Amino acid sequence: QAATPQWRPELHYTPHKYWMNDPNGPVFYNGVYHIFYQYNPMASEWGNMSWGHATSTDLLHWQEHAVAMPFSHDRDIFSGSVVVDRNNTSGLGTADKPALVALYTSVFKEGSSHSAGIQAQSLAYSLDGGFTWQAYHKDPVLTLSPDSMHFRDPAVSWYEPGHYWVMTTVVADAPVVKLYRSDNLIDWTFLSDFGPAGFTRPGMLWEMPSLFPLPLDGDASRQKWVMMIGVNPWSIAGGSGTTYFVGSFDGRTFHAENLPPDGSDPAAYDWADHGADHYAAILFSGGPAATPLTIGWMNNWDYANTVPTEPWKGQMTLPMTLGLKTINNRPRLCFAPDAHYTALVASRKSYSPGAFQLASGQKVLPDAARGDVLDIHFEIQGNGARSAGLIVRASPDDGTGTRIAYDFDRHTLSVDRSHSGRTDFSPRFSREHIVNMPPARSLSVHVIVDRNSVEVLSLEGSVVITDLIFPPSGADHVIAFAEGGSATFTHLDVTPLMDHGV
Ligand code: FRU
Repeated sequence: QAATPQWRPELHYTPHKYWMNDPNGPVFYNGVYHIFYQYNPMASEWGNMSWGHATSTDLLHWQEHAVAMPFSHDRDIFSGSVVVDRNNTSGLGTADKPALVALYTSVFKEGSSHSAGIQAQSLAYSLDGGFTWQAYHKDPVLTLSPDSMHFRDPAVSWYEPGHYWVMTTVVADAPVVKLYRSDNLIDWTFLSDFGPAGFTRPGMLWEMPSLFPLPLDGDASRQKWVMMIGVNPWSIAGGSGTTYFVGSFDGRTFHAENLPPDGSDPAAYDWADHGADHYAAILFSGGPAATPLTIGWMNNWDYANTVPTEPWKGQMTLPMTLGLKTINNRPRLCFAPDAHYTALVASRKSYSPGAFQLASGQKVLPDAARGDVLDIHFEIQGNGARSAGLIVRASPDDGTGTRIAYDFDRHTLSVDRSHSGRTDFSPRFSREHIVNMPPARSLSVHVIVDRNSVEVLSLEGSVVITDLIFPPSGADHVIAFAEGGSATFTHLDVTPLMDHGV
């Protein structure tokens, strides 16, 4: 198949070739961000699961390295996490040279020490800052009894109040999160179960759980705990997606607060993302705890194996910082691009026309606002319009474009990718993602446009819509529109992040 450079993202990590899914063990160590990830070193479809590896110093430019942990005759290596063992609790490093410790899921094969398909948690460590890894001799370090084919995705973090490590894992098909503790990362004891909870459906899996504290509204005395979980299928946008619960954690049990009474309406729950393409989100370890940083897989299990990119398949979301803010009387997880991204945008020239009114219709923005990699901020106010917004990656001649709209009557924010370019590679490539917003006369929206994606943030980052798109090359216009009346763009900044035509 022909290569598709027009869709290789500029700001989002993707391996040079072959299949990638979940981010694994993102860690900040010695000034370098490392990501590992579910990788097939032999083909552009899921299989031969191994940990690929890439590093960056600015979260924007990534260097791919040799596979860190390859699959082998006796197992596949599924998702997991990495911590910096600074106090050498494991005894695997030294005080001066801490070990990086990975906890990951081994999926055993026929002829190995376990029956085929059994999943258990294993440990590997690195003494050279994450480049080479040794398997620990006790293997696995944690099994479920009886053995399970769905016991996976260990995420480990240091629980400061109790001075021990806490691991969240899932029994994916229960679906339940299982919590464990350890003093040394090697011996784990069971703490508690969380779930099933929230919006559930028969056949729904929970994957990639993570538990972390955040100050509410920046106030450390009002700390809450967030449990973020990958849900597949039945997520809010169809297929796989990321939900979260806010509550408390006493070192043993996580209690979710404010759960809606009725488990039947997905829109009643909190979703980290309302788009189709944000899954398996996980936090970086090793960085400053005050600004937790997350990264996810920008894809959906509904169609990930058939997305039309070559020679790679799979990419990450933009790393984002997380906060917890009271919005509409609820604590909400809020996403924001990190400082490196913000500095990149600030270093480029933007098109900022000042406020303007748009009568019902469309206005193609000038060349200074063109590009296939853009940062956009806009604020709109209705003056009779039923809806208004922007069409990005647009070609004015043939109606191609991805439509980001606010509906002033229904108070919804939506991304419509039905005319975004290629959509025919899967019947399950969902077309439109709609979020209910609190009623307001105006709305500000931040959009990050890359060669094959949009990330739309609003309401202080508590509403995110992440969607893949596959536009034709040359569809690089931005169009402002209003429908059913006029709208005012009270603010607009479009910053091309790549030189035009590159
Ligand atoms: C999530 C997931 C994980 C598993 C990995 C396998 O996307 O299904 O639960 O560890 O991918 O590649």
